[in-house]
Amino acid sequence: MSEPATSIEALGLRRADTGGGLVIDGKLISQSVLAETAAGAADLLRTSGARPGLAVVLVGEDPASQVYVKSKGKAAESCGFHSVQHTMAAHTSQADVLALVERLNADPAIHGILVQLPLPKHIDATKVIETISPAKDVDGFHPVNAGLLAIGETDRAFVPCTPAGSMILLERAAKALGVDLAGRDAVVVGRSNIVGKPMAQLLLGRNCTVTIAHSRTRDLAGVVGRADIVVAAVGRPEMIKGQWIKPGALVIDVGINRVPGEGVDAKGNPRTRLVGDVDYAIAQPRAGAITPVPGGVGPMTIAMLMANTLASARRLAP
Ligand code: GUN
Repeated sequence: MSEPATSIEALGLRRADTGGGLVIDGKLISQSVLAETAAGAADLLRTSGARPGLAVVLVGEDPASQVYVKSKGKAAESCGFHSVQHTMAAHTSQADVLALVERLNADPAIHGILVQLPLPKHIDATKVIETISPAKDVDGFHPVNAGLLAIGETDRAFVPCTPAGSMILLERAAKALGVDLAGRDAVVVGRSNIVGKPMAQLLLGRNCTVTIAHSRTRDLAGVVGRADIVVAAVGRPEMIKGQWIKPGALVIDVGINRVPGEGVDAKGNPRTRLVGDVDYAIAQPRAGAITPVPGGVGPMTIAMLMANTLASARRLAP
């Protein structure tokens, strides 16, 4: 315990009707990030004449990717950005995708380039990511940005959006509870390049003692049970059991999993619902603070993409 807790509502958290851990309102906090980004973009335009520009590239017709890309474009417009979407057919050659990326690298109106993943199988995603200029890699997936994060140069790196957003939620929760993150035991469950590894780097940067757990970890229950901070990013519905959570722990659930729900909808289709990687019903009463699914980490990812694009425009602006 370090400093007195600031008003929990002002920090974007709320008490659950049933008591127990504070609920971290990712939707509300993402709106404050978006509002700050829009204000920053207006300021940049006024002072330097530069308007942040985001280019999103979609190859193929994956329905989930189409939804994500549309949301990213809408968020960019809401922040006052120059927003362009390039949609390419699923059979587009790798050479054509790389040529588009090169054109965007050279386009002074574009400060952020995002190629939506997954790409069709005949396209090498690593090659595409490595072709994006590190200075415009607002996803933070390029090895140069991963390396800058690993050596603690977070001011120069683009940090991947989901871990960057998760970190903001965690900091808000820690502040609301008057908890200092330094020296705390943190476990990240999942070791992906997009979430698990960069999240671990960010926690290390805040002086946490960090464990990365994964599918080969022995005694996951024990590892999670010792942690003051749990970040779940495994993509398996409710795999982290509520009773594993140490009382008072801060829990960030990155998982968004669609599972069968109850009954049928108006069209007679079986209902589905979204759940996280954490068994929320049991974890929430035990936790100090926890993110819900939906409405937790999800909305932060797009907000951080906008924040990264503004940061890029500020760096690249004349
Ligand atoms: N597909 C799912 N999430 C992401 C993301 O954050 N960035 C990109 N480029 N593709 C994704």
